[in-house]
Amino acid sequence: MDRSPSFSSLILLLLLLCSLTCSSALKGFNHNIADHLRRNLLANGLALTPPMGWNSWNHFGCQIDEKIIRETADALVATGLSKLGYTYVNIDDCWAELSRDDKGNLVAKKSTFPSGIKALADYVHSKGLKLGIYSDAGYFTCSKKMPGSLHHEEQDARTFASWGIDYLKYDNCNNGGSRPTVRYPIMTRALLKAGRPIFFSLCEWGDLHPALWGAKVGNSWRTTNDINDSWDSMISRADMNEVYADLARPGGWNDPDMLEVGNGGMRTNEYIVHFSLWALSKAPLLLGCDIRNMTEETKMIISNKEVIAVNQDPLGVQGKKVRMEGDIEIWAGPLSGNRVVAVLLNRGPVRYSITAFWDDIGIPPKSVVQATDLWEHKTLERQFVDKISATVDSHSCKMYVLKPIA
Ligand SMILES: *[C@@H]1O[C@H](CO)[C@@H](O)[C@H](O)[C@H]1NC(C)=O
Ligand SMILES: *[C@@H]1O[C@H](CO)[C@@H](O)[C@H](O)[C@H]1NC(C)=O
Repeated sequence: MDRSPSFSSLILLLLLLCSLTCSSALKGFNHNIADHLRRNLLANGLALTPPMGWNSWNHFGCQIDEKIIRETADALVATGLSKLGYTYVNIDDCWAELSRDDKGNLVAKKSTFPSGIKALADYVHSKGLKLGIYSDAGYFTCSKKMPGSLHHEEQDARTFASWGIDYLKYDNCNNGGSRPTVRYPIMTRALLKAGRPIFFSLCEWGDLHPALWGAKVGNSWRTTNDINDSWDSMISRADMNEVYADLARPGGWNDPDMLEVGNGGMRTNEYIVHFSLWALSKAPLLLGCDIRNMTEETKMIISNKEVIAVNQDPLGVQGKKVRMEGDIEIWAGPLSGNRVVAVLLNRGPVRYSITAFWDDIGIPPKSVVQATDLWEHKTLERQFVDKISATVDSHSCKMYVLKPIA
């Protein structure tokens, strides 16, 4: 088996070089990196764990209205999903009129959001949820159905704050060709000035490696272009996102795009892989299906408390690919309480037996380990030494939390 290519180490090295040139005294590598990372966090107090909620785009695209948003908020509560942590209700593109008002303010589209965004925020807040909205660091949004916020950053941030917005997804279309590192921080400062903590989601599609600069600009940054509801798209987003694993941390997360679970393009086992990898990768868990009309299967997947707990673990370390051999991969990462999460992944067309060795996943070699199978919802009776093995079907995975007990 080959070690996974360590692009992330390269990035850390770059960061390290930067932090060395910026600091006079060398106090040891780790201290120096930690210090550098802390100084460069966006200080809005948000996103100590990855955000959880829903976004309209993957299922509805531009076909949204205030009724869908209200009913989705109702459904998040009625299904118990809000209690599991899914609290952001995020409106994506196509909520506004193409023209600003005579004072230059963004206005909600009369035909689809007649009550306005403030009323919607009040409604969503009354359910104990949060409201997210969308804009673009360019002249028009990606659909070209709304104005962008470029050169209107302060005014739009004030508008969002006055409406009671809690989350902004900020896209990258029609931007006139200037760098995202120029355009995005202007909105960062505008949001900080607007007087309301607003989660800032950078959506520049990974173009300029935002993992390298995103933490002081936003609370999450897309590392890929858009996902679609297919196995190839999903698994390739997970791969592209993984190389930046070392740069995620509480306050700022890598974002491989929103979930497709429940939209119908993948099989149940594939959606389980999707949800498992997003959880292990400390990705935002933003549901993308129609919450009002989910199958039991969809609900079962997105309601898995143990998998959600991996995503929301307070240690906040993104898991990564630690071994790969053809279609077989081991993904793993540390959790609080001296535990480790491991995913045994079969990307191929046939069933395989897969083994994860302690040595590869960060457990001392001779440790005796208690294993909990997160999709079987059970702690296995036997204890494991050196390794754990499982038979894994095509496009499927096993997901374990492993706890050394001796
Ligand atoms: C979805 O993405 C995959 C891989 O990224 C691509 O091959 C496929 O054409 C896309 N499908 C659609 C319907 O856009
Ligand atoms: C609910 O979902 C099913 C497929 O799961 C679909 O056939 C049906 O049209 C949906 N109903 C509504 C009201 O969207």
